[in-house]
Amino acid sequence: MAQPREQWASRFGFVLAAVGSAVGLGNMWRFSYLTAENGGAAFVVLYLIMTALVGLPVMLAELTVGRGARRSPIGALEHFGGTRWRPLGLVFVATGFLILAYYSVIAGWTVRYALIGLLAGFDGDPGERFGAIASGSRAVLWHLLFMGATVAVVMSGVRAGIERVALVLMPVLFAIVVGLAIYAATLPGSGPGYGYYLSVDFAALWDANVLAAAAGQAFFSLSLGMGAILTYASYLSRENHLPNESVVIAGADFGVAFVAGLVVFPLLFALGLQQDVGESTVGALFITLPKAFSEMGAAGRVVGVVFFFALVVGALTSAISLLEVVVSSLMDRLGWERHHATFLLGGAIALLGIPAALETDVLGAMDGLAERFFLIAGGLGLSLFVGWRMQDPMGEVRVGAEGVRWFGLWRWLLRLVVPAFLGFVLYWSLGDLSGALQSLAGG
Ligand code: PFF
Repeated sequence: MAQPREQWASRFGFVLAAVGSAVGLGNMWRFSYLTAENGGAAFVVLYLIMTALVGLPVMLAELTVGRGARRSPIGALEHFGGTRWRPLGLVFVATGFLILAYYSVIAGWTVRYALIGLLAGFDGDPGERFGAIASGSRAVLWHLLFMGATVAVVMSGVRAGIERVALVLMPVLFAIVVGLAIYAATLPGSGPGYGYYLSVDFAALWDANVLAAAAGQAFFSLSLGMGAILTYASYLSRENHLPNESVVIAGADFGVAFVAGLVVFPLLFALGLQQDVGESTVGALFITLPKAFSEMGAAGRVVGVVFFFALVVGALTSAISLLEVVVSSLMDRLGWERHHATFLLGGAIALLGIPAALETDVLGAMDGLAERFFLIAGGLGLSLFVGWRMQDPMGEVRVGAEGVRWFGLWRWLLRLVVPAFLGFVLYWSLGDLSGALQSLAGG
């Protein structure tokens, strides 16, 4: 039968692990390329609004359900809502499977870029290099190695693996990102980069496409809509102040994305590479940034290696949380032992990632499907669950947070505002999504 449930060793350890889940490729790679694709500062503003208005209530909902049930997503939804809610839990687990499969491929790219920078430098044709790294048998190999590292951490358990890795690596990541932003500010010619990134064109705020992209990105970046935060909260004891913690986690996540933008845009503008940013796609940053690093000479090489190292760290702490959702579900439901569950599921996810490692278009389609559909649908389901179905979520969230007065508002956000927003985004994105899938099938 199932072993007693593990718990975090400290409150700080939990917060860092949750921030580790949230801060990842989404903050540095995805955020920068979406900002470029959607016209700069207006996207940043919408993303901030989405984080606060939609992300934060759903974050608190995941924390509340996870800590209250002390089970992984499927069991937690059943615990509070009965078996009719099991399918939503299954969708969460399937989403974790899907995201980790391609996320690990991109993580493999970042490991290779860090190593190439270290051993050989960033000179040479950046587009050609990206082509060689992004797909093919080498990409498969590095994807498998990265999955191996993720499996090794998750196998060690909540305290000895996940919490310890977060405690060591997350402070390093924060220090690197802030250090790089300060360095970028010293580059001559970086000024217009700040203009692009920070001066808002208010007309662009009313573009539904930009809004949908911002909502999807907020969910992806905060690790919401698939039970990752819920699963981490299931290892909490009941003294945590969940509202404060949701604010800290969401704030840190937005902070790292924002500061990463203060690295990327000034750097690219200082080197006159801004037109490359405009044509942004999944691979753009992996082409443009190394080009910038190579033009900056010896300093660029150091900056580049450190930058990619930070990406590797972020990717690892996020991948761990994706795997943990799937692993803890199997442990809870079937009473499997952690080692076996991790090994088996890690292996299955590694296999599913191989097509993404062979073909970048497949990777892009998986990413679109996950972020534009599954995470939004998952967030919609969860907000309806906590808003309408769960008995007394306010009682649960109040434990450890006595005296907070705005919980009534929180429930109404979950009941009406969040579902209305996410429903609209889902409807809006479906057109895009079917186009993307058709082009994939056609091409
Ligand atoms: N939040 C991670 C990032 O920004 O890179 C990605 C992610 C992790 C998404 C865990 C979803 C998740 F459950």
